[in-house]
Order: sequence, then structure tokens, then C-alpha cells
Amino acid sequence: MESRATHARKEYERGALDETTADHDPVRQFSRWYDEAVAAGISEPEAMTLSTVAADGRPSARVVLLRNFDTRGFCFFTNYESRKGRELSVNPWAALTFHWADLERQVRIEGRVARTSAAESDAYFASRPSSSRIGAWSSPQSEVIAGREVLEELFTRQREAFPDDTLIPRPEHWGGFRLEPDRIEFWQGRPSRLHDRLVYRRDSDCWKTARLAP
Ligand SMILES: Cc1cc2nc3c(=O)[nH]c(=O)nc-3n(C[C@H](O)[C@H](O)[C@H](O)COP(=O)(O)O)c2cc1C
Repeated sequence: MESRATHARKEYERGALDETTADHDPVRQFSRWYDEAVAAGISEPEAMTLSTVAADGRPSARVVLLRNFDTRGFCFFTNYESRKGRELSVNPWAALTFHWADLERQVRIEGRVARTSAAESDAYFASRPSSSRIGAWSSPQSEVIAGREVLEELFTRQREAFPDDTLIPRPEHWGGFRLEPDRIEFWQGRPSRLHDRLVYRRDSDCWKTARLAP
């Protein structure tokens, strides 16, 4: 196929990000922007790109859903034996990227990832619909499978194994990860490519902020 050019060229003028009004705590600042993304009606504002790095230095990225966040970190849930799960067990450094296009905003979060406690994973697993809980048992996430019918058969088998929706335990291989941030950057698109970038870096127990050139 011949090379294709893309033509998007947009002026960003929805907002501004200013050291004097941004929160001193980046998690509170994230919370504020997340609320604004929800209020703006952005589709799946909790969707974020999770980047991991394998032992050989090769990066990989995929979208996962942010399920909760607080001063301890940002949590998502997945299969611990998936590609991302295996990569994180060898190299816990990871990055999360949000792009809220309608607000012309990006947030980049970096830090170390650790598994959530079994109790936290159990609580979140129990809150999922039964089809998702059966799905967690059925899918050997990231493995090659011969065809869709294999997946459907695995699902049917697990559905039969757990006929009572109230008695579906969490599989050992499924649970949460919490990314404990040491760097969070907020990006707000501005006219003439003079975008605002505020970065917060953790310095022992406090956060230091700086403005970066766009
Ligand atoms: C909007 C969206 C949300 C997703 N949320 C999750 C999630 O929360 N957890 C998850 O394991 N995979 C989620 N996925 C699927 C992942 O992108 C990915 O396909 C899967 O986790 C396997 O990735 P891996 O082979 O790199 O481990 C989501 C995909 C999309 C597009």
C-alpha cells in the first residue's frame, strides 16, 4: 500500500493550565480533571494506555480501565498471566496515559506497579457482572487460540462449572495492580502549539512541580 498522509491540524483553545490554580497535590489535580472529563460526557474517560517494558527492553502498550485511585495510586484489573502481567512481574516500572481529546488534555502517570491485596481484588471481582466473572475464568488472556469457538466453548464450560452466580470465586491468576506514581504530567492544548505542561515529581514525601516546554 502506498504511503498516506494524515491531515489533522487543530488549534487547541479549550482551556489553560496555570501553576497558580493547579492543585499542589497531583492526585487531587487528576481528580479535578477526571470529574471534568465525566462532566463533559467524554466516552470512557477511565480508559488509559498502560505501557510496560519487557525484560529485554521492548515496550508494549494497551488500553485498560482505571478502576479506582487515591493517594496510594491508580488501580486497574487484569489477568496476572497476560503479557502485561508477566512483563510487570519482571519489570514493575510502567506508565499510564489518558487522552481526553474533547478537553484537549493529556495526563501521563509514571511509577512502580504492585499487585493489590487479595482482599481488594476479591472485592472488585465480586462487584463485576457474572458474565465478566465467568469471562475471567474462561480467557487465557494473551495466549494464541485456534479460533473464536475455543473461547466460546471455554466460556460454556466455565458457566456450567459455576451455575450459581453468587458462588463464582476470583481466579488466582486475576486481580488488580496499583501504579504508585512518582511523576505525573498534565498537558493542556493551547493555541500556536504553546501548550501548557505541568509536571509533578515526587521528592520523598512531597511533590515538586515544574513547567515543561511543549
Ligand atoms: C476501552 C478498553 C478497555 C479495556 N480494559 C481492560 C482492562 O481493564 N483490563 C484488561 O485486562 N484488559 C482491558 N482491555 C483489553 C486490553 O487492551 C488488552 O487487549 C488485554 O488486556 C491484553 O493485553 P496484553 O496481551 O498486553 O496483556 C481493554 C481494552 C479497551 C479497548
